[in-house]
Amino acid sequence: MHQIKKNSNKLFTHMAAQMSCISSTSSIPSLQNKSPRLLAFVSFRSSTISFSSNLNQHLSIRSLEARRSHKSSTICSAVTVEYNSEQMEVDTTLSPRVNSVKPSKTVAISDQATALVEAGVPVIRLAAGEPDFDTPEVIAEAGMNAIRDGYTRYTPNAGTLELRTAICKKLKDENGISYTPDQIVVSNGAKQSILQAILAVCSPGDEVIVPAPFWVSYPEMARLADAKPVILPASISENFLLDPKLLESKLTEKSRLLILCSPSNPTGSVYPKELLQEIARVVAKHPRLLVISDEIYEHIIYSPAVHTSFASLPGMWERTLTVNGFSKAFAMTGWRLGYIAGPKHFIAACNKIQSQSTSGASSIAQKAAVAALGMGHAGGEAVSHMVKAFRERRDFLVSAFRELDGVKISEPQGAFYLFLDFSHYYGTEVDGFGLIKDSESLCRYLLEKGQVAVVPGDAFGDDSCIRISYAASISDLQTAADRIKKAILTLNTRSNI
Ligand SMILES: Cc1ncc(COP(=O)(O)O)c(C=O)c1O
Repeated sequence: MHQIKKNSNKLFTHMAAQMSCISSTSSIPSLQNKSPRLLAFVSFRSSTISFSSNLNQHLSIRSLEARRSHKSSTICSAVTVEYNSEQMEVDTTLSPRVNSVKPSKTVAISDQATALVEAGVPVIRLAAGEPDFDTPEVIAEAGMNAIRDGYTRYTPNAGTLELRTAICKKLKDENGISYTPDQIVVSNGAKQSILQAILAVCSPGDEVIVPAPFWVSYPEMARLADAKPVILPASISENFLLDPKLLESKLTEKSRLLILCSPSNPTGSVYPKELLQEIARVVAKHPRLLVISDEIYEHIIYSPAVHTSFASLPGMWERTLTVNGFSKAFAMTGWRLGYIAGPKHFIAACNKIQSQSTSGASSIAQKAAVAALGMGHAGGEAVSHMVKAFRERRDFLVSAFRELDGVKISEPQGAFYLFLDFSHYYGTEVDGFGLIKDSESLCRYLLEKGQVAVVPGDAFGDDSCIRISYAASISDLQTAADRIKKAILTLNTRSNI
């Protein structure tokens, strides 16, 4: 086997470049014999096996910035690996794009909570954004039938015609917006639909307007597209709804996208039609400005609130990309299915990106989604049963937290989150814990002392608040509310000493 010698920096630069292009050269023996570059890469790949299994013994990570003598200006950081008594280096530099993206705090707190549960601590997990209900039987059955019937092959990239036709019918009947199947792309979740849309329309340096509080992924997706997220805060006193005047004052010729989310994650706010009309009047003055309307919580809405699709407003169809999916209303998070609808020019661009990344969504999930859309208006009885339960839980939590001094509440009109302002309690010092100075320390405190996992508001662009997901049983919510209140009252007492 060839060995890679110490300081063969040129070779490492080659290898780093090849890593992204070659998946497995070791399975191509003819190439191994002919190309010295590939041989070196094969040798490198073999070495990486011992590299990871002996991680602690052999690796030392260092920044080559500090090692000015390094010959390659393209390598920023590297690991030195010992292999067969030889030393070699691997360039560990990540792309600036990845470095610009923040890791998800929702995932971090969920992981911490899971670790505590696994260690036997009875943590109540109210951090995740997924319904606690099972997928309705008729949908699950359709998925199982798809497997039994051998419906297990690739589908068209944009999704099956059957599903896209059903989506067009849903959008016409429920949302009053007309599309043809070639104006729809089905993806592995609404998350993918949104990312593809941002990648499809943003040029480097474009601005993506994100009203805060926002769903954690919007600004990071803008960064992934080399665009700049521009955050427009909305306060709890305005029910966390974007002020059209603020929007107007922040728009420039670089503004390319406005992302609206109604009902909202994390606030549960629902944009009234009149407010959307005002926003539409502002948007209409800016020819470059498109709108992503994320309507994934559309069906989880509490009357008298009513959902309005932004694309249904006068003049907005041409510039709106409507995103929806099956995860939330149909309790199908694991099926991974969402979609985007819009003018063909933009949708074809999303389709092109998808064709070079994931290809069509799961054939099985698509059959299940057709069944979901066949369950009746707004998901029929099964969905309204879940919405009724969410409403009861919302009512319970809102009245439970209204009893706490200093906590500000904007009653959610949809989705299954409560976004509470706890900033009254910041600045409190707790024995054995330390200072509660922001939403993150408060959530750590609630996890450690109250054994309840909730998400810090700064992940959503508002550090005054914490997000509680009420996609949990009413008895868990009762226990959680008691524990939070107890932990907070302890704080209150201490702050008043
Ligand atoms: C506002 C919002 N949009 C989109 C998504 C993505 O949903 P999925 O990719 O599961 O369809 C989520 C999931 O948490 C969400 O909260």
